[in-house]
Amino acid sequence: MNTKHMTLGEFIIDNQRFFKYSSGELSRLINSIRLAAKVVNHEIRKAGLVDIIGAAGDINIQGEAQQKLDVLANDLFKQTIINREIVCGIASEEEDDFVIVEGKDKSNENKYVLLMDPLDGSSNIDVNISVGTIFSVYRRVSPEGTPVTKEDFLQKGSEQVAAGYVAYGTSTMLVFTTGNGVDGFTLNPAIGTFYLSHPNIQIPEEGNIYSVNEGNYVHFPKGVKNYIKYCQAEEDNRPYTSRYIGSLVTDFHRNMIKGGIYIYPTSSIGPKGKLRLLYECNPMAFIAEQAGGKASDGYKRILDLQPTELHQRVPFFCGSTKMVEKAEEFMADHP
Ligand code: AHG
Ligand code: MN
Ligand code: MN
Ligand code: MN
Repeated sequence: MNTKHMTLGEFIIDNQRFFKYSSGELSRLINSIRLAAKVVNHEIRKAGLVDIIGAAGDINIQGEAQQKLDVLANDLFKQTIINREIVCGIASEEEDDFVIVEGKDKSNENKYVLLMDPLDGSSNIDVNISVGTIFSVYRRVSPEGTPVTKEDFLQKGSEQVAAGYVAYGTSTMLVFTTGNGVDGFTLNPAIGTFYLSHPNIQIPEEGNIYSVNEGNYVHFPKGVKNYIKYCQAEEDNRPYTSRYIGSLVTDFHRNMIKGGIYIYPTSSIGPKGKLRLLYECNPMAFIAEQAGGKASDGYKRILDLQPTELHQRVPFFCGSTKMVEKAEEFMADHP
């Protein structure tokens, strides 16, 4: 079939043979994520017309003011996935602890855990800037037939069997990997179908965009400051262009298509960084590597980090391989 007109449903059937564990369950899980993405997309597109923008009134486990859409996206994703009885547990940026999904007859027979950032870029909702959803899938390590444990969620990123994001941008895109490259699908909203629009996405090895919240410059470590100076120097193909939206999904997506580096470093006001290893960095790192890019904490590969807690934060350097390597050189001067 001409892949240009392939739908996501057809793609999943066609590619099932490449899935790490070729049971139909992973296909069903991706199908449910596809459905959840459409449901959340439908709700988000109404923001401004119905009363779903603004703060929800609670502070989440991250210490952030939860937005109404954070809560809505979390509930919609969770419910859509739980109803389909494919995962045995869910961990989310918006949940204090992981959620056990016992399944039919409380049999705990489902094999996968889902980790998610249901709405990424919440602070951009009220001003009509693109937001996203990030997801990550692992196979459980605890015995089937028992309730999931924390260890099922605290696996190294290298153990992911699938990861992806939905970008609610000028168009809605679902981009994901099951460990066999990265493919992007664009939603045709008129008929509610995702079509393969970006097959086998490759991050350019070198780029000219750097994305970092430079307002925090004075708080950054020396290595990051020096790398930023390098990006701004008038030499070779520099200065680079600075682009920072403040929605990881959108900043990452742009850099993946055009070539660039995204940095969220440690700082004197956020000594561990801001982004969450399990819900943000690991899935983006898996996608980046599958597209030929690189993701690091400044010194080490993100996917090799052993998580110790659900809501753990890490510094994040991600994008075009040569740019991330250059940033690591600057970091190595200031270990
Ligand atoms: P979330 O909305 O899921 O809490 O994530 C916010 C993250 C990420 O989307 C973005 O790249 C970053 O926070 C922006 O942080 P700053 O405003 O500190 O730059
Ligand atoms: Mn948040
Ligand atoms: Mn986020
Ligand atoms: Mn979020």
